[in-house]
Amino acid sequence: MGLHEQIEALAQVDSEHPGGGLVREVYTPEYGEAVRFVSDRMREAGLEVREDSVGNLFGLWPGVSPELPRVLTGSHFDTTLNAGKYDGVLGVLGAIEAIRQLKADGFSPARSIEVVGFAGEEPRFGSGCIGSRAMAGTLSRSDLDRMADRNGITVAQAMRTSGLDPGRLGEARIDPATIAAQVELHIEQGAVLEHEGIRVGVVERIAAPHDLRVVITGVARHSGSTPMGLRRDALTGASEVVLEVERLARESPSGSTVGTVGVLHVAPGAVNVIPGEVVLEIDIRDSDLAARTAVVEATLAKLDSLAVERSLSVEVATITQDTPAECDPRIVGAVRAACEAIGTPYLTMTSGAYHDSMVLAGAGVPIGMIFVPSRDGISHHPDEFTAPDELDLGVAVLAGALRRLAV
Ligand code: GLV
Ligand code: MN
Ligand code: MN
Repeated sequence: MGLHEQIEALAQVDSEHPGGGLVREVYTPEYGEAVRFVSDRMREAGLEVREDSVGNLFGLWPGVSPELPRVLTGSHFDTTLNAGKYDGVLGVLGAIEAIRQLKADGFSPARSIEVVGFAGEEPRFGSGCIGSRAMAGTLSRSDLDRMADRNGITVAQAMRTSGLDPGRLGEARIDPATIAAQVELHIEQGAVLEHEGIRVGVVERIAAPHDLRVVITGVARHSGSTPMGLRRDALTGASEVVLEVERLARESPSGSTVGTVGVLHVAPGAVNVIPGEVVLEIDIRDSDLAARTAVVEATLAKLDSLAVERSLSVEVATITQDTPAECDPRIVGAVRAACEAIGTPYLTMTSGAYHDSMVLAGAGVPIGMIFVPSRDGISHHPDEFTAPDELDLGVAVLAGALRRLAV
């Protein structure tokens, strides 16, 4: 099975759900099936397969000098809701394919090269990157009981259903000094490459999210008999927040801040009841940490003033607060050199999406990323598409970069 057929085959491993997109969340039976699929592909490529204590999947190609810090390359193969088939998957199956090509070329790496499929990059449990956070040592055992999905299932409970022991979390931690590089091939998930007419992106930095969960409580009353002046409507208050996040991000001086309210639950949710409680989840991102912090602080100030002006109670919790990552100049140089060697023009760019590589960078692992175009900039949607020749080009650039980094 070639890379394109493998991507199509993995897209068939999906949960039962309404709607056209893929849903394959970490620690579900369908994710287990995907783990078996990817493990088989790793074995076919002659890699030594292992799974760590949180379900990160590894396939090792031992180098001539296995004692040297190794080169990691990979991404994730879980999906968000109503997803496409390339996000993350390209970086895992494409890495296996790059190794096949290097082997076919007779290349013999000095350093070991290890393919990784990080467990749970998508935010099933509010915060994403479970596997890479465990590797970085930034998740605690109590986080696994605290973080829950939309049905109230905690990470620890979900891990147990996949046969993993949450008590062994610490075993997944890596020593960053044992990793020379983590290189992640990924679809761009935006429209910049397509717009510029360039087929490869060399990532220089990764923007990071600061996500908030806000519960606004007002008073649920009869919508017909409560005059407008006597209301404490949680949803009209929340609406001000939604628009304020948009305004703050648009007007942020960095020019790169983005702000989104992607979750809004209204209770009790009846046409004849004034909303008594609203839960919002707010995602604010930038590669410029100071600019992001300013927008988060202004959002918090808005929530404070809203509580007073509208007599609402407002509770705020931080779900995720990551640090933007800089790619390592040596790895960026290797990716550029790989592009130049095959004569493909590239664009140096920032990743607006987060990736497991960002989390590993926070732990001191040198990282780099390669992007290929997303048609119409679409991602996190069933229409996500990257042309087969662009997938192949991404793999060729990855192979060239690995060749340069594994010496
Ligand atoms: C990753 O999927 C992100 O939300 O950036
Ligand atoms: Mn994603
Ligand atoms: Mn991804």
